[in-house]
Amino acid sequence: MAPFILYVLLSHLSIQTSGYVQPNEEGLISGIITDKGLDYAKDLLIEEGIASVIQLQLPEIENSIQVPLVGNANVILSNITIKGIKVNSSTVETGESGIVISVSGATANLSMRWRYSVSSWLIPIGVSDSGTATVKVKDMQVGLTVNLTNNEGTLKLFLLDYGCYVRDLSIKLEGGASWLYQVIVDAFEGNIASSVENAITEKIREGIEKLDNLLQYLPKQISLDKTATLNVSFMGNPVLSNSSIGISVNGLFTERNEVSVPQIYQKEFEISSACGGLLKMIKVSIHENVFKSASLVYFNLGRMQLVIDELPEKAILNTAEWRFIVPQLYKTYPNDDMQLNITVSSPPVIQVTNQDIGATIFVDITIDVLEDGEVTPVACISVDISASCAVEIVGNRIVGRLKLQKFSVYLKWSKIGKLHMKLIQPLMTTTLKTVIIPYLNFQLKRGLPLPIIDGFAFQKANILYAPPWIAAFSDVSYLGLGEYYLNHQEAQLL
Ligand SMILES: *[C@@H]1O[C@H](CO)[C@@H](O)[C@H](O)[C@H]1NC(C)=O
Ligand SMILES: *[C@@H]1O[C@H](CO)[C@@H](O)[C@H](O)[C@H]1NC(C)=O
Ligand SMILES: *[C@@H]1O[C@H](CO)[C@@H](O)[C@H](O)[C@H]1NC(C)=O
Ligand SMILES: *[C@@H]1O[C@H](CO)[C@@H](O)[C@H](O)[C@H]1NC(C)=O
Ligand SMILES: *[C@@H]1O[C@H](CO)[C@@H](O)[C@H](O)[C@H]1NC(C)=O
Ligand SMILES: *[C@@H]1O[C@H](CO)[C@@H](O)[C@H](O)[C@H]1NC(C)=O
Ligand SMILES: *[C@@H]1O[C@H](CO)[C@@H](O)[C@H](O)[C@H]1NC(C)=O
Repeated sequence: MAPFILYVLLSHLSIQTSGYVQPNEEGLISGIITDKGLDYAKDLLIEEGIASVIQLQLPEIENSIQVPLVGNANVILSNITIKGIKVNSSTVETGESGIVISVSGATANLSMRWRYSVSSWLIPIGVSDSGTATVKVKDMQVGLTVNLTNNEGTLKLFLLDYGCYVRDLSIKLEGGASWLYQVIVDAFEGNIASSVENAITEKIREGIEKLDNLLQYLPKQISLDKTATLNVSFMGNPVLSNSSIGISVNGLFTERNEVSVPQIYQKEFEISSACGGLLKMIKVSIHENVFKSASLVYFNLGRMQLVIDELPEKAILNTAEWRFIVPQLYKTYPNDDMQLNITVSSPPVIQVTNQDIGATIFVDITIDVLEDGEVTPVACISVDISASCAVEIVGNRIVGRLKLQKFSVYLKWSKIGKLHMKLIQPLMTTTLKTVIIPYLNFQLKRGLPLPIIDGFAFQKANILYAPPWIAAFSDVSYLGLGEYYLNHQEAQLL
């Protein structure tokens, strides 16, 4: 095990103390795990690692020893069980050689059973005895080095080096002859130490394999509904700097079965793990083109359309009700029901500003008359809406809330002559405030899912607007797999 320790020490020294290295290419969504995040991940890993070895039973150890005055003793240690491990100090470091996690000064308790049999010409009848013992590992070092690479859009975790070194242990027998104590200490100390070392290194290998599997199953695409997907394939290799890990994903919305051409941002912005004075575990940066691609996809899918046949608060839509507002309409179609066909007429213009997301939405409101089951469009009014959208992180989604800033209304076409826009305006205001904006907000409430490893959740996120990026700074918490499955089921139900 000594070479490993040497390696850890060497790699500690060779860890580059450079700042954040820019990735070669950037997707539209990038993430940085800060030193606080790495510390949290490390503690979680150690916790999980300890849980995986508690109650672990090590293989039986048997030895035959010639004991002076006693004879040939066959000693067996069995039921060697790790009862507890305590970690005094641990560190995580990142750099060119990978991610190095090391634990030092760990202590452990083990319990075991001993039994022996002695046969010699002096004692023709075999003598045997059995009892229990405890082992205290007083100083143990554990370390591992892993590397992360991008393998066709998913992250691959490589275990480059790992090991465990038991420096000091003591054995205490309950009962037994006094010679037995010396025999066990002399003949078994090394065996017990290497048995503990082997068990722990094996668990490290298994643990990293599991973690790698988890990464392999991270989706490359997130389906938002039956028609649109968000490409969350990783782009470029993760960038390990001396205290953070930077990753980047494609981040484009596409219609299902359509390929998103990656938009690469070459060193266009300074990635900084500095969280504006906030000490958070991760930083997720989202380019405004993510929102643009979302609006384009939904626009192209013709999903930005709404037909209503009544207005809240106002009277039902009927030509008779409208006779004072649009007398010509009443003349041509007396007492017919109406509907409003609200259609977004071109992709919304979206721009991240210093305090929110600005959106300009172009809406056509077509007035339809319903006559004997037939729909006759009679006029169309265009509304240009300026709105601001504040975003926040709710659960693992980024959701928005639109606020109407201003709007302008004009007649696009009419089959019933000129309309009195002054009279129509209040009606449009009502439609906007009671139908269109609430409807858009209802859609926005569903939000965009942020790529995060299953089982983890954002906590206490802050949003910072840095045009053309939005940055979310957040802590994460591990829900554990139980809660993960619960959430997963809920997600499937939705
Ligand atoms: C990481 O690098 C920065 C400068 O690039 C330096 O200020 C900082 O001390 C380094 N941190 C560690 C843990 O080496
Ligand atoms: C020792 O281990 C064996 C098998 O592993 C088990 O059957 C037995 O119950 C254990 N004895 C004690 C005292 O734990
Ligand atoms: C080992 O056992 C002793 C007493 O049984 C306890 O005080 C100590 O905390 C244990 N250490 C570990 C690492 O479990
Ligand atoms: C724990 O670590 C500190 C320094 O990091 C050291 O002073 C202390 O003796 C250690 N305790 C044990 C039980 O190893
Ligand atoms: C770690 O992975 C990166 C690619 O992500 C690679 O460039 C680097 O050489 C690897 N380092 C080691 C020590 O394998
Ligand atoms: C998703 O993004 C990756 C990386 O940019 C790209 O290679 C892949 O073709 C994209 N997949 C789809 C379905 O658009
Ligand atoms: C609504 O109007 C759009 C054009 O503005 C048209 O394509 C669509 O078919 C209309 N929908 C209904 C239900 O009338």
